[in-house]
Amino acid sequence: VGLSKLNTLRVSATAKFYIDVASLDDLRGALAWAEESGHKTLVLGGGSNLVFAGDFDGLVIRMQMAARHWEQVDDTGATLVLGAGENWHEAVLYAARAGYRGIENLALIPGTAGAAPVQNIGAYGVELCDTLVSVTALDRESNQLVCLDNMECGFAYRDSLFKRSPGSYIITGIRLRLSREKPLQFGYRDLEDYLGEGVSQELDALTVAEAVMAIRRRKLPDPEIIPNAGSFFKNPVVSIEQFSELKAAHPDVVGYPQSGTVKLAAAWLIDQSGWKGYRNARVGVHNRQALVLINHSGGTGQDVLELASDIRRSVQERFGVNLEMEPGIVGG
Ligand code: EPU
Repeated sequence: VGLSKLNTLRVSATAKFYIDVASLDDLRGALAWAEESGHKTLVLGGGSNLVFAGDFDGLVIRMQMAARHWEQVDDTGATLVLGAGENWHEAVLYAARAGYRGIENLALIPGTAGAAPVQNIGAYGVELCDTLVSVTALDRESNQLVCLDNMECGFAYRDSLFKRSPGSYIITGIRLRLSREKPLQFGYRDLEDYLGEGVSQELDALTVAEAVMAIRRRKLPDPEIIPNAGSFFKNPVVSIEQFSELKAAHPDVVGYPQSGTVKLAAAWLIDQSGWKGYRNARVGVHNRQALVLINHSGGTGQDVLELASDIRRSVQERFGVNLEMEPGIVGG
């Protein structure tokens, strides 16, 4: 089964077996079949945060579980329940149109609701963990459905329990607590600049979501048109001392202080190393956001990974900073 349409980098790879699952029973059935027949499994959502390094010699399971409803609706807010297969961006619009605040800054992030907790998706000053109440998941060890609350998910910047222990849980759904009155988040400069003089708590969540969509469309390539996997590296966190040294050597270095450390803009490091807009015959670096690698024309996962390691090497040589990859590597 060809996987190129199932990953947003559009690299070609094959899976020995493939199944779409729309319910917990389907999922359990697929897992039981794989176990009996001795095949390993790979669970896919929207395929927007992974690189196929080669073919997958097992069963690929695509999570298609649908569900979207409200619980615990009161004067102040409501809890949005989403099945793992729901499209994330559609869910953001659904919530914003209903007048609920909390996830509007996360508009246009590709992928599914079930994949969102894995890397704790974040953008424009908001992270999924800010609203997530709980994750429902199949615990692979006990084969039981479990409910993990926010703390148990062990969230951090682009990280979670699910990312740290791949294969231990299969997320089947999430619950988010949204609010009618919580302040909108305009702290991120791009967003504040875009909204300009109109910026105010009087705005509704949908207006903010639309602003985020416009900003993203300006800077980030649409994976439907230009295959990519979003930010390819995490923004590296360094000590205040290392940041001071970097600043002495490179006065323009971009960093955001946070609790005793500094988060560097990986895009700036890559850009300054001369990679922005670079392209070879098959793959390259986006010309408006240096953190995004692009598959221009028939690139393989290996082509993308080679480019990534060339970039890492040059950033390491120039700035002494190690870039960590964001998407997971599978297959091969
Ligand atoms: N910059 C450059 N060159 C570039 C792009 C950016 O020098 O080509 C510098 C600019 O100075 C800018 C700074 O880097 O001020 C930060 O850039 P930007 O605001 O675009 O954000 P980012 O840190 O590069 C992060 C997320 C994005 C998210 C944006 C907005 C990570 C790894 N990436 O990017 O997430 O949309 O902030 O909040 O944290 C994703 O994860 O796939 C993703 C797109």
